[in-house]
Amino acid sequence: MKILLIGSGGREHALAWKLRQCSTSGRIYCAPGNPGMGQLADCVPIQADEIIKLRDFALDKQIDLTVVGPEVPLTMGIVDEFRQVGLQIVGPDRHAAKLEGSKSFAKDFMMKYGIPTARYEKAYDQKEALALLQTFSLPVVIKADGLAAGKGVLICHTEEEAEKAVEEILVDQVFGEAGSHLVIEEFLTGIETSVLCFVDGETILPMASSQDHKRIGDHDTGLNTGGMGTYSPNRVYTNQVARRVKEKILIPTLRGIRQEGMDYRGILFLGLMITKDGPKLLEYNVRLGDPETQVVMPRLKTDLCVVFNQMLNRNLFKLHLEWHDEAAVCVVLASDGYPEAYETGYEITGLSNVPDDVMVFHAGTRKEGDRLFTGGGRVLNVTAMGETVDEAREKAYAGVEVIKFKGKTFRRDIGLT
Ligand code: AMP
Ligand code: GLY
Repeated sequence: MKILLIGSGGREHALAWKLRQCSTSGRIYCAPGNPGMGQLADCVPIQADEIIKLRDFALDKQIDLTVVGPEVPLTMGIVDEFRQVGLQIVGPDRHAAKLEGSKSFAKDFMMKYGIPTARYEKAYDQKEALALLQTFSLPVVIKADGLAAGKGVLICHTEEEAEKAVEEILVDQVFGEAGSHLVIEEFLTGIETSVLCFVDGETILPMASSQDHKRIGDHDTGLNTGGMGTYSPNRVYTNQVARRVKEKILIPTLRGIRQEGMDYRGILFLGLMITKDGPKLLEYNVRLGDPETQVVMPRLKTDLCVVFNQMLNRNLFKLHLEWHDEAAVCVVLASDGYPEAYETGYEITGLSNVPDDVMVFHAGTRKEGDRLFTGGGRVLNVTAMGETVDEAREKAYAGVEVIKFKGKTFRRDIGLT
């Protein structure tokens, strides 16, 4: 089976690693891929948002299965485009991808199907937003409606901050189109959990849970990032919580997907807050998480190509996912300055000294000849498995120690909280 994998981050490297192990996988192409993925597959210089080029490439190479990593091509309608010409692709159609592409669409969907979530209001202009703000207590969460590369969510602790956020989004349009309107939300407290699911429109199969550490600094301090590390399974995601999520969130979500006529044969990612009143849904994503994938894929025993095939044939109900009992921990090595401005182009050394039981997924790297250089904010994802989260942590941090590059920045508390 020939596979095309779209994307170029650590999530896609972990996916390539897992797809390489499929009993049926033949040639794997990555578009555009990265140097780590290049060791497992053929990288082709087509960007993830060049949908027509990707479609033509898949037709030309007679690709049997396309897997999409990032959200942007999904919200642009890559799935519709591929399916129209008979190509098999994993992902939601453009309509369903709005569950991630528009926060107000997602919140209205949650409301319609009775899914527990933070109270919210939508606002289309500054006057309306300021009036609605009065009905919320502080802190309050203000979100640009569209995709803003994870930056469009502002947690405001004072009225001034909230007013500034409204102005930035609606008047200054710092998020461009994504800020054509906004959502104001009640602030929830609790522990965040990520649950990635395989969906075929009839069945939702949740994967092992994980927790992403989103802030740049130890003990959840500093700015929000794309994710500085993950561990799986998540300690707060007990069987009891999982049952509640199934009943209150997964089943109603599936009902909504069917009732709204969405073609959802792809991944659905629930961003949950486990509050004292039970699990609440913060957001849907329509793709795998990054760096959640880097801890969930190593724990999945089942052949991923089998899962995708059953999904595309709407046969997930026949499948029972098998998991390794071991825990997994992934520590992100970032460039100094991330998530704000940072420099790239520093040589990475020490990879050959990483212990054999540690996996290093590439996120933002660049290769020149045989030498490897930093090429992004998040650079490498150091991942290990162990009998317990603590053991996996120790192994992952042993790998972290031997990798060197100028400005190497990482959290020391991944998997601790
Ligand atoms: P989102 O993109 O909607 O998941 O928001 C990004 C991050 O902002 C989440 O992972 C949470 O850490 C935080 N967040 C979003 N909505 C809320 C909320 N209603 N209450 C508290 N934190 C939130
Ligand atoms: N790690 C969070 C995300 O992928 O959105």
